[in-house]
Amino acid sequence: MEIKGSTNIVGLIGHPVEHSFSPPMHNAAFEKLNMDYAYVAFNVKPNDLESAINGAEALNIKGLNVTIPHKIEVMNYLDEIDEVAQLIGAVNTIDFKNLKGYNTDGIGAVRAIEEVASIKNKNVLIAGAGGASRAISFYIAKYGADNLKILNRNVEKAQKLANDVSNSGLIDNVGFDSINNMDLSDVDILINTTPVGMHPNVDDTPIAQACDMHEDLIVFDAVYNPNETGLLRQAIEADVKPVYGIKMLLYQGAESFEIWTGKKAPIDVMQEALTKYLGL
Ligand SMILES: NC(=O)c1ccc[n+]([C@@H]2O[C@H](COP(=O)([O-])OP(=O)(O)OC[C@H]3O[C@@H](n4cnc5c(N)ncnc54)[C@H](OP(=O)(O)O)[C@@H]3O)[C@@H](O)[C@H]2O)c1
Repeated sequence: MEIKGSTNIVGLIGHPVEHSFSPPMHNAAFEKLNMDYAYVAFNVKPNDLESAINGAEALNIKGLNVTIPHKIEVMNYLDEIDEVAQLIGAVNTIDFKNLKGYNTDGIGAVRAIEEVASIKNKNVLIAGAGGASRAISFYIAKYGADNLKILNRNVEKAQKLANDVSNSGLIDNVGFDSINNMDLSDVDILINTTPVGMHPNVDDTPIAQACDMHEDLIVFDAVYNPNETGLLRQAIEADVKPVYGIKMLLYQGAESFEIWTGKKAPIDVMQEALTKYLGL
């Protein structure tokens, strides 16, 4: 990659950002398409967020990804916010053409799942009610699921998220329950957004062994370290289609790329760079 006077800059703001997978993934895409772009990571402390956004605009930066701890606060400094990002209440992508914020995390999960099956008219169960669950839930609703049920350890949090999704008007049937009351018999798509199974506790799974997986189920695990989690191993053993967490990382990046450049993201090249960077 040759950095020239004309090179367009996009990047990431967060705190910390040193271990981000996004620079190698996006730069591989720019290189493949021979685009005069470069992606860099900026470590922005919480108190510096407003000046970072103003500075990025002044420096003619084309687009930014936004990560922890800025995803909510950054909404105060944008001119426009995409409708679903507004419902989610968090932004992970800024397009400086119109200083507009988007949330591509949920789209990333939906694109990953839709590689395997359409979400339309399906019964979807989500374990967890934190940030990832919130981003995914609204997109599951937007993509036409019939039923959405949110299970969480803290049931009040599941109820709050279920109410928010229900009030969006994107879906009619939204329920909630304790994560201990999981029943997969009527579920078409199971999504794990809890960190259960993350390295180093790689044999833990968020569902009880007694919870039977039927053969038409699809299981998506947002956890991507390890690549094949205990939950996905359970799925494979039950002849159930697994959807890997790395795909959500990939497609959230692809969506951001497409928002900034207006070009179709080169998925294979981005996936190869991501897999290599994460050592998967
Ligand atoms: N693949 C991707 O692109 C991607 C993107 C974002 C996140 N993720 C992954 O998704 C996971 C969650 O991230 P997040 O940002 O949503 O975190 P978060 O906001 O902290 O939410 C965590 C959720 O998991 C639940 N939880 C935590 N520990 C649990 C346990 N031991 N047993 C049962 N439930 C538990 C929490 O329940 P309580 O409310 O009861 O505490 C909460 O609902 C992480 O592993 C993260 O790496 C992946």
